[in-house]
Amino acid sequence: MFLSNVVQFDIPLLPDPAGLDIIHLQCHIGTDTLSLARRGAKSVVGLDFSPASIKEGQHLAANAAGGEKLRFVEASTYDALEVLTPGSFDLVFTGVGAICWLPNIRQWASVVSGLLKPGGKFFIREAHPMLWTLDEKIEDRLAIRYPFFETEQPMMFQDDSTYMKLADDWKTFENATTLEWNHGIGEIVQALLDEGMEITGLKEHRSIPWDALPRQMVELGNGEWSSVCSITTSAELMMFLRRICFEGGTGTNTAVLHFAGCQEEMRHVLHPGSSCNNSFTSRSIANCLSFVCESRPRRGLRC
Ligand SMILES: C[S@@+](CC[C@H](N)C(=O)[O-])C[C@H]1O[C@@H](n2cnc3c(N)ncnc32)[C@H](O)[C@@H]1O
Repeated sequence: MFLSNVVQFDIPLLPDPAGLDIIHLQCHIGTDTLSLARRGAKSVVGLDFSPASIKEGQHLAANAAGGEKLRFVEASTYDALEVLTPGSFDLVFTGVGAICWLPNIRQWASVVSGLLKPGGKFFIREAHPMLWTLDEKIEDRLAIRYPFFETEQPMMFQDDSTYMKLADDWKTFENATTLEWNHGIGEIVQALLDEGMEITGLKEHRSIPWDALPRQMVELGNGEWSSVCSITTSAELMMFLRRICFEGGTGTNTAVLHFAGCQEEMRHVLHPGSSCNNSFTSRSIANCLSFVCESRPRRGLRC
């Protein structure tokens, strides 16, 4: 049976869905939700706050094998503990391209952990926060443009494109403004740890399922794209980020990473006037991040 490219990619790290009650947060039109059902889940709830997405998900469930295990709920992730039974899921799943729409990662982590049974698991694959900092409009080098850490004010974009295939008679979007937030790796991981989760796996990938940096990525053939100069050690990048120290969300320091062809050397140059002045070498950027967490009973609350 057909499985989405996203779930196929996730299988090596994903806890085995067989027999589990699963909640898929920000499920969009339910293709990954259905794929989890097809991997043997007992039941899968797809939650999304978009009525149009939920309607498509319900249509899919009514017409596809495995759809009988699906239920769709229209709600904000932040309201999930009010509209669903807390502590009732074996697995919380979040697919790639989701948490950038959420303003507060700590509040999100408390929802994730609140939905899980004791010993339940959480799986996420998400675009790497480092990737989200890069200027997607620059085509000949990597340039940091957006904040790495969570900011109070969102980043605002005008974008009337979609990764979905549109009907031939599709005209245009009524609303093209999007508000997005980045969340640093430490912010995500610490928020989950503070909720009593145990991180049991953390992997930084070299590919992502869309052309995130046009003209700087190549399609790998399995629905994944990778930077042309795809090489990285994130530890170096994290040190680099600490050095360039964005202030709030304004991103007043601009850093540019120059490639020397597609070879080994990259170095960064900071804006004139910046107090930071380091050079470093690295071999690429991480594009995607996966991790798996298990919920531990904490302070006896969930025993
Ligand atoms: C770009 S899609 C990515 C979905 C993901 N790849 C998947 O299928 O699992 C992001 C989804 O998040 C949903 N969304 C954004 N903010 C949300 C919120 N606060 N609560 C629930 N859904 C939200 C959007 O409606 C959209 O369907």
